[in-house]
Amino acid sequence: MVFDKLPTLKIGKYVPKFPVIQGGMGVLISGPNLSGSVAAEGGIGTLATVGIGMASMTCSVDNFFRKNVEALKEAVAKAREKAKGGILAANCMCALQDYEQQVRAVCEAGIDIIISGAGLPLKLPEITKDFPDVALVPIVSSLKAASLIVRRWMKSYNRAPDAFVVETPNSAGGHLGASKIEQVDDKSLSLETVIPELVAWLKEIKLNIPVIAAGGIFDRSEMLHAFELGASGVQMGTRFAASAEGDASDAFKQAYVNAKKEDVVLINSPCGLPGRALRSPMVEQYLANIDHNDPCIANCLAHCVYRATHKTFCIARALIEALQGNWNEGLFFCGSNVWRVDKIQSVREIFADLFGKDAVAAH
Ligand SMILES: Cc1cc2nc3c(=O)[nH]c(=O)nc-3n(C[C@H](O)[C@H](O)[C@H](O)COP(=O)(O)O)c2cc1C
Repeated sequence: MVFDKLPTLKIGKYVPKFPVIQGGMGVLISGPNLSGSVAAEGGIGTLATVGIGMASMTCSVDNFFRKNVEALKEAVAKAREKAKGGILAANCMCALQDYEQQVRAVCEAGIDIIISGAGLPLKLPEITKDFPDVALVPIVSSLKAASLIVRRWMKSYNRAPDAFVVETPNSAGGHLGASKIEQVDDKSLSLETVIPELVAWLKEIKLNIPVIAAGGIFDRSEMLHAFELGASGVQMGTRFAASAEGDASDAFKQAYVNAKKEDVVLINSPCGLPGRALRSPMVEQYLANIDHNDPCIANCLAHCVYRATHKTFCIARALIEALQGNWNEGLFFCGSNVWRVDKIQSVREIFADLFGKDAVAAH
């Protein structure tokens, strides 16, 4: 396939030069630097909103939600400066206690697109009703979830989504759209199954919105395969997490470079969803059923097994440790392709691999 024939990705009124979204990655793995840099390069850069206030020295369990709002507004402004007029999205997770506050904060800060998963964003149009220019993109793993969202949004708000991200639990990083670990490898949730099904269904109901494929897409051939399946764009996480512009510490990125295929494991996150991560010592302890006694530091999740029972682990603490590169204590979320990260590349180099040096230089 030649460059001219790549699909045009149009989400609401936003049309990036390249049909690529850098997926939102928390906590602060995709902060203002990465999201702004991807937007500047001609993709859609996504700021992860989860727990963003925790980077502040003065953040505590008592002021966490307020700090998140302050930090989000600052982060959107910083990303905007970097983005050179490019398109910026925010990734907001439904499983969070302060989901609505986060959504409102990024809208007020002038975000272009909200991409929302980790649960079904059934009330998203209601929360964003004062910001009609903000495009709304649910993340789903099945046709069933997508159709439920379309029906509910149309009935309650007379509004359709502006796109869908289909994220397959077969290979994606972070929390996975499957009810339990045994379902993660289910081929009925693969991109090969869900993308054509969803594209056909949208055609049938005459809803002309793009479908974006996420999970396991690393190079140009995988991107083109997703387009052949009917996707109009791809969302990539793992490869961007280890980029030079990524907001994580060098040690986080080095953990990706060091990772081998067999280092990737599945866990049950305290929010009740399975997740994919590196087998760090912290994860080994969890797999050995060793409980922790640390206090809950953020009260971040709406439903948290750890807060309720002290089983599993404090996910806010574990993700902050990973962000800072603490291999022993950190939870290093990653996609199944993490072993293919063998060096730290700039965002521009990644785009050049995907679209060719000439196309990137011409941007
Ligand atoms: C370190 C890491 C953190 C992530 N955090 C989030 C998140 O906060 N919210 C979310 O919706 N998805 C999250 N994801 C999923 C990504 O946005 C993306 O959809 C997914 O990783 C795509 O698969 P890939 O990593 O194989 O490219 C995360 C992924 C990684 C690797």
